[in-house]
Amino acid sequence: MYGTIASVTTPPLLQALAGTRPRTLPVWFMRQAGRSLPEYREVRRGVAMLDSCLRPELAAEITLQPVRRHNVDAAIFFSDIMVPLKLAGVGVDIAPGIGPVMDAPVRTASDVAALVTRELGDVSAITDAVRLVVAELSQTPSGDASWTPLIGFAGAPFTLAAYLVEGRPSRDHLAARAMMHADPASWNALLTWCARISGEFMAAQVAAGASAVQLFDSWCGSLSLADYAARVAPFSREALALVEGAPRLHFGTGTGHLLAEMAKGADAVGVDYRTPLDEAASLVPGKPLQGNIDPALLASGWDALEAATRDVVERGRRAPGHVVNLGHGVPPETDPDVLTRLVALIHSLPA
Ligand code: CP3
Repeated sequence: MYGTIASVTTPPLLQALAGTRPRTLPVWFMRQAGRSLPEYREVRRGVAMLDSCLRPELAAEITLQPVRRHNVDAAIFFSDIMVPLKLAGVGVDIAPGIGPVMDAPVRTASDVAALVTRELGDVSAITDAVRLVVAELSQTPSGDASWTPLIGFAGAPFTLAAYLVEGRPSRDHLAARAMMHADPASWNALLTWCARISGEFMAAQVAAGASAVQLFDSWCGSLSLADYAARVAPFSREALALVEGAPRLHFGTGTGHLLAEMAKGADAVGVDYRTPLDEAASLVPGKPLQGNIDPALLASGWDALEAATRDVVERGRRAPGHVVNLGHGVPPETDPDVLTRLVALIHSLPA
């Protein structure tokens, strides 16, 4: 896939996602931008979460903060899985300390029928921010051919639907799972719409310069394999299929039983901290893996974190490529210096 000259400048992240072993292990962190960084809290002061995502200069600045600080191998675009819903005109807010809250939950067949007439709308705030980020990430000190790729993302159809139907964060997503069984026609219409909105949101980021994408299905672990395979996975694949020209990562939590299904239609699979990577490698043979240091270890002292990281890296050798990450997002109370030190450790290990 890559020529000899290109391979010199292909960043480790993209080499690992192509199923090869770069000279150093690539690492980035889900939620690396955000509340763990004082410089984030500073620029976010007085600006509502979703508003910050729609101001291109601010979203670009927040995206770049952790790259400057930690020397990670990728930027993750600062946005939210709720942003495409907002762009489509859906009434949604992110309540601090709670999470996404909808003005009106989508509960009935007529609620769904009204929703699915909406289009994604104007994505220029997003594509402008992506262009600003990519321009800065491509500026390299003279003589250094390296550049840092930007990862775009979207929420997977099930996770989006869980918020839309429940109206707010929930533990078991009972209302969403009830609709799935009680009204399959509405469920299919809802997930078809979510897949299109998410797929178009990712494709817009790639068209503006993102080098990879990640589809986040944070809540699909609440489903049985049978329900996931029949009623959810086809829509996640529809979303991923709208992305061309960039490797596609697929991540969820509590997904040990779903990994093989999640791998279909994706180029690499993100694994949460519950499934050891060597086990994951045998569940999805041939696929590069991403993960999966338990975020709790960031607050467990350096010795425990270092030992666990070395173990994750060892187990990751069973996969054709390995992108080191946490098994879920950076907790807000994390000491950012621990993340910086962790990146240096991972870069020092034999790839
Ligand atoms: O660094 C990054 O990872 C980039 C940005 C990013 C955010 N949200 C910013 C954000 C990404 C990739 C997301 C994805 C996201 N958003 C997911 C999937 C990933 C996951 O964690 O499972 C989900 C489920 C959401 C929905 C959402 N948005 C939640 C549950 C919350 C937390 C609410 C809270 O206050 O505890 C948000 C808000 C949010 N999204 C914040 C950030 C930095 C915190 C808001 C703030 O700083 O005020």
